[in-house]
Amino acid sequence: MDIKITNGTVITPTDTYRADIGIQKGKIVEVAQRISGGAKEVVDATGAYVFPGGIDMHTHLDMPFMGSSSSDDFETGTIAAAHGGTTCIVDFAIQGKGESLKKTLNAWKARARGKAVFDYGFHIAICDLTERILQEIPKAVAEGVTSFKTFLAYKGALMIDDGALFQILRKCNEAGALVMIHAENGDIIDLLVKDLLTQRKTAPKFHARSRPPEAEGEATGRAIAIAQMAGAPIYVVHLSCKEALDKVQEARDNGFPAFAETCPQYLILSYKNYEEPGFNGAKYVMSPPLRDKSNHAFLWQGLASGDLQVISTDHCPFNFKGQKDRGKKDFSQIPNGAPGIENRLCLIYNEGVNKKRISVNRFVDLVSTTPAKLFGLYPEKGTVTVGSDADLVVFDPKQKYTIRAKTNHQNVDYTPYEGYKGKGAPRVVIAQGRVLIKEGKFLGRPGQGRYVKRKPMRLV
Ligand code: URP
Ligand code: ZN
Ligand code: ZN
Repeated sequence: MDIKITNGTVITPTDTYRADIGIQKGKIVEVAQRISGGAKEVVDATGAYVFPGGIDMHTHLDMPFMGSSSSDDFETGTIAAAHGGTTCIVDFAIQGKGESLKKTLNAWKARARGKAVFDYGFHIAICDLTERILQEIPKAVAEGVTSFKTFLAYKGALMIDDGALFQILRKCNEAGALVMIHAENGDIIDLLVKDLLTQRKTAPKFHARSRPPEAEGEATGRAIAIAQMAGAPIYVVHLSCKEALDKVQEARDNGFPAFAETCPQYLILSYKNYEEPGFNGAKYVMSPPLRDKSNHAFLWQGLASGDLQVISTDHCPFNFKGQKDRGKKDFSQIPNGAPGIENRLCLIYNEGVNKKRISVNRFVDLVSTTPAKLFGLYPEKGTVTVGSDADLVVFDPKQKYTIRAKTNHQNVDYTPYEGYKGKGAPRVVIAQGRVLIKEGKFLGRPGQGRYVKRKPMRLV
């Protein structure tokens, strides 16, 4: 046996039990109350939980966007993620104008190759729909891309119209792929941005004013209605507010397969952050923007009840100095996005489990198991069972920490959570049956991550 994890408490969405775990050739080969045989390496999990590695379904590594490029590449980004207990990501390959899906996928594979330290997959964002692209969707599914993102925002750049969304939904459903939607009304936002700039309202907080919650609620409702007309399920990304949650809830109550994720920033930070002194509000310029804190309780309730099924990060880091400051005189020039890949599990464990908003089992479900099921990675990933990939976190619920940009590993000069104090952090992180992180040290090798061909969607 290569590795034996002893004395831990295994957590899955349904079970909590004491067990040892045996690992060989990258797979879990035994889960038993006591494993007596020897192993090359023994990981002591006394006092710790052992659960499947975090899966982050929404990251943007090395992504060209708004005249800049996100500051983490697949090496720095996956190393940072691993420090925080994430062992698999699904990143977005963004289709360029006139570009085939094959070319898009190959370009993103090349970005990750030789760099990623754990397994990864890709969604493709379709931004320029033609008949040829529609015909290519089943081929991309055969290559393991079983989810596609579409944008109803970023007018003039990534945004598509309702007709294109309808066609993509129909084709993807036939091909067994799930459509993900960035739901904000891009036409209205475009007009609001122009209005605000005409009034010389240029500070970062006006980014949030230009993207009101109603614009997200409207687009979420519209996307779901279009999905209903297409007879296809839909997955709403980075849902931030009650207006959008209400639409998802209503659809689900009517038995329609609408799914949604939220992100730590929408559960912890708020509009108030835009009012930090000077240009600091730019650190939180992302889309959708941070909302009034009254939304937090609704989102937590949605996570507990099952109306929200996934917590991802939307990690899209830009340095405060040299990137965010492009928009010093005009909020619309601030690259949209914020870092978070490293801190997702710790933040959600502390805010969710320690504060008794969700159980530890639900926590594992939200950060690992349901993402794996919805996006074709299960049961190889997202669970602790014989035959699954040995992607595991030994998590010490008592370990205290303070989040700081200077001790984080993300390649970005700030964190939105500077000074945040919490309890519960990874002690050891294992990916592909190898110890990747031990007591804060990275022991892996860039390039050891593999591209994962995902299976067609499985609705949960
Ligand atoms: O502000 C954000 N969210 N940037 C990344 C692109 C996106 O919309 O997901
Ligand atoms: Zn988006
Ligand atoms: Zn995103």
